[in-house]
Amino acid sequence: RCGLSSFPRRGGAMAAVRWMLRWVVAAAAAVAAVLALDNGLARTPPMGWLHWERFLCGTDCAADPHRCVSEQLFMEMADRMAAEGWRDAGYEFICIDDCWMAPTRDKHGRLQADPKRFPSGIRKLADYVHSKGLKLGIYSDVGNKTCAGFPGSYNHYDLDAQTFASWGVDLLKFDGCNSDSLDLLAEGYRHMSLALNNTGRSIVYSCEWPFYLRPVQQPNYTEIKQYCNHWRNFYDVYDSWSSIKSILDWTALHQDTIVKIAGPGGWNDPDMLVIGNFGLSWDQSVTQMAMWAIMAAPLFMSNDLRHISPEAKCLLQNKEVIAINQDPLGKQGYQLIKDKNFQLWERPLSGRAYAVAVLNHQEIGGPQNFTFSLTFLGNGLACNPACSIQQVLPVSRDWGVYSWLSSLSVEVNPTGTVLLKVLPL
Ligand code: GLA
Repeated sequence: RCGLSSFPRRGGAMAAVRWMLRWVVAAAAAVAAVLALDNGLARTPPMGWLHWERFLCGTDCAADPHRCVSEQLFMEMADRMAAEGWRDAGYEFICIDDCWMAPTRDKHGRLQADPKRFPSGIRKLADYVHSKGLKLGIYSDVGNKTCAGFPGSYNHYDLDAQTFASWGVDLLKFDGCNSDSLDLLAEGYRHMSLALNNTGRSIVYSCEWPFYLRPVQQPNYTEIKQYCNHWRNFYDVYDSWSSIKSILDWTALHQDTIVKIAGPGGWNDPDMLVIGNFGLSWDQSVTQMAMWAIMAAPLFMSNDLRHISPEAKCLLQNKEVIAINQDPLGKQGYQLIKDKNFQLWERPLSGRAYAVAVLNHQEIGGPQNFTFSLTFLGNGLACNPACSIQQVLPVSRDWGVYSWLSSLSVEVNPTGTVLLKVLPL
């Protein structure tokens, strides 16, 4: 039943009305978001695969041929993405992170891929990825060197943007290590955005600008959104529950500043999905998937698609949770209630619907119940006068119809999340 929905289907006329409503909402959202980077990209959070968390900076292909950062790794991942439902589920970008480069630029000053690990070059790899109906992402850094010590783009922004465009690259992750000052960091992020636009190629621009700025100064998100399609705010994700927890806690703590800024064209990026690796239990994996949907987060998996459990695959390809993540209204969700070990989050969706997540933080004991009044949801409007409630995670289930004054009692496993969709009647 993986990937299948048990939601009731409505008739043709209703579907047409819903379609029109979605269109109107999407058009209104587009007008509201005129201040987003105007490259027409990332109207919903981008989805794909990024090598960093799982494969880090593996450069020794002799010792570790299947896990080193090489063209073979990306080609094998692209094969899986196309053949095993990932692309069709929406995971479109296959992204190279740090450590793809040769230690020096070529004689024309251009970045070049490590010739041993990428013997065919990035252009060929991009062609291969495109032939599978996917898009290619690449990585560079605003400073003198990347975080792992490879050549940075400082002083070469225009040339590097042109090089990436000439290779057929579709996304740039632009890191912020090794910049000499905050002014240079900001200038570099702006410059690269304009340089990418000037190439004439559509290239999604992924930034870490606010993350590197924050220790010293409060980021100006209005400006960042004018230059970047998504931006990291917080530390790198690790393959652990404590990492996922810290990202959620940070997001809740800063929601008053960051939630309102997200929308079509520009998204807060809480970093990669680590589902399918080693560190998260099933319930914690459900929590990451549900909460990344609530946060309207870019969905970049970092795992090994050649070795992934059917359960992890099912969760990552779950159509209903992906639809929430990709909702065309493009509003990020927020924490509504924190009550002892429980957190209640909601995200406004198109068609006056809401996604609601109930997260149980307790790390001792068994499943516990959380009871809340439906009047809390959507400023009192989500279930007014009545609504139908559908559970999306951990399993798809129809809860039926509720009236405004009802309460809902939800049983949640320790460190797990129950994700619901509340639809107006
Ligand atoms: C930084 C970034 C990570 C990754 C590494 C690569 O830590 O935040 O996502 O790109 O650099 O060196």
